[in-house]
Amino acid sequence: MIVVLCETIQPYFMSVVVDRGVLLRDMSVITHIGGWMIGSALIGLVANVCNVYVSSRVSTGFGTDLRATLFAHIQRLSFSDIDRFGSSSLITRMTNDITKIQQVVLMSMRLLLRAPMMLCLAIFFVVRIDAEMAWVLLGCIPLLGGGVYLILRKGFPFFMRVQRLVDALNGVVRENLINIRVVKSFVREDFETRKFEARSEQLKDTVIRASNIVVLLFPLMQLILNLSVVVILWSGAYRVANGTLQVGELISFVNYLMQILMSLMMLSMVIMIVARAAASSQRVNEVLDAEPSLTDTPVGRQNRYRVERGEVEFRNVSFRYAGGETDVLHEVSFQVHSGEVVAVAGATGAAKSSLMQLIPRLYDVTRGEVRVDGVDVRDYALEALHQGIGMVLQQSELFSGSILENLRWGKADASREEVEQAARAAQAHAFIEAMPEGYDTLLGRGGVNLSGGQKQRLCIARALLRRPKVLILDDSTSAVDAETERNLWHSLRAYLGRTTLLVITQRVQTMQAADRVMVLEEGRLEAIGTPEELQVVSPAYREIYRSQQLFV
Ligand SMILES: Nc1ncnc2c1ncn2[C@@H]1O[C@H](COP(=O)(O)OP(=O)(O)O)[C@@H](O)[C@H]1O
Ligand SMILES: [Mg+2]
Repeated sequence: MIVVLCETIQPYFMSVVVDRGVLLRDMSVITHIGGWMIGSALIGLVANVCNVYVSSRVSTGFGTDLRATLFAHIQRLSFSDIDRFGSSSLITRMTNDITKIQQVVLMSMRLLLRAPMMLCLAIFFVVRIDAEMAWVLLGCIPLLGGGVYLILRKGFPFFMRVQRLVDALNGVVRENLINIRVVKSFVREDFETRKFEARSEQLKDTVIRASNIVVLLFPLMQLILNLSVVVILWSGAYRVANGTLQVGELISFVNYLMQILMSLMMLSMVIMIVARAAASSQRVNEVLDAEPSLTDTPVGRQNRYRVERGEVEFRNVSFRYAGGETDVLHEVSFQVHSGEVVAVAGATGAAKSSLMQLIPRLYDVTRGEVRVDGVDVRDYALEALHQGIGMVLQQSELFSGSILENLRWGKADASREEVEQAARAAQAHAFIEAMPEGYDTLLGRGGVNLSGGQKQRLCIARALLRRPKVLILDDSTSAVDAETERNLWHSLRAYLGRTTLLVITQRVQTMQAADRVMVLEEGRLEAIGTPEELQVVSPAYREIYRSQQLFV
């Protein structure tokens, strides 16, 4: 408000200087009013600096808060919610979209009050100088407003499309970078480059089309305003000639006209940026409004259940992914006793991973129930459930940081002893020690890269540290050689004691070492029993057995 007051008062001072100072040759008025002009300009300057400082701080703080809120919210979402948005879109929303909203906050704090106030004050002065001439102006404003409205209405759908195309482009880049090894090994660089270029071209075309519409806006405003200046000067000259208007007043009138142009331009700029950011804020809100589909149930919040024995039971469980068309699991029932080792076999796509993810409640069953220690998993507090059930996912990843940090990720307060013990049990200690900096070796960017089998063993060690009562390994030893794997099973059993172990595996040796084997076929439980029993009753198991006997 101070900035606007200091700005709009200037033409008024000028008219006084011209009419009472210059025309009447009165030097004292010129120095006196000139002093006021400089003083108010300085005050305006200071106020403006404050405004820039505060608005920058506030908008940056706003962006940081919003990003933190969104990040925390994403952490609470469950697997199926993340599936729904897609992680590349979530990244775009976290970065690009929030930056757009942050810009709006910045611009609004600078202009949203300033532009309309300047417009009003300038109009006030113009009417005060000469109400009749001001009519010309009042005729122009609806014309200008209408023009801005029409242009923005035509442009808005393009702004929305631009955001979506940015999203798509980010998606292509992200996917490419994550899969860069695949791209290289299939020599598909050209194909990927063309895919990127096509997206990029599409974005460019849309941006150009959006700009083509907006490009009309400012020249059109300028034209209307210049025409009105001509009209004002023409009719003003008559008034000055017959003495109803003074020269200084005419000059300040034209100056106010310019301020009106400025404020209208600022306003339309704000409206445009807001329109662009509306798409972004919609996308951010979509995530913020997403209720985590998996939370503690009311019963789960009250109960103090802990996983103690590690018994797992499925009762007529059917499961379908959100948005999926068919069930991936059909009426599965079985029971695993405390301390038992059960191998899970089946072709890829048989829903082995889906089945296992139901136990720690990463997804909820569609029908039936999953029980751990005789209690429905939905009746546990999620934290207690996850504390008791360890899981190494099929595509487990490590974080950048030292090996020690990665292992402690499973249990933050684990002593060095504990960590080494878990690493020994996972057959990881030897190769860690062999590294130049042992447990302090850095992984990831700027550090060493591990082989697939080494990564898998670290992931297992990380899960072991928690001493879970049920441990699920989803094909977690696929990249480990046969001999190391044999040792691994021995050391694991010694380490785990009475922990129930569920192991998805493709290897017959592992199945034969298990207490029981469960064979899945297209989401159905084909058979469950000891390896010897399955040789007799399960054609699918015999088939797996036979095929590997041939090749090994
Ligand atoms: N996140 C998911 N969303 C939708 N469908 C999925 C998802 N994950 C797996 N599926 C589908 O579920 C079926 C079983 O997959 P999965 O459990 O991974 O099999 P397996 O681990 O035995 O190879 C497959 O048809 C797969 O396409
Ligand atoms: Mg799987």
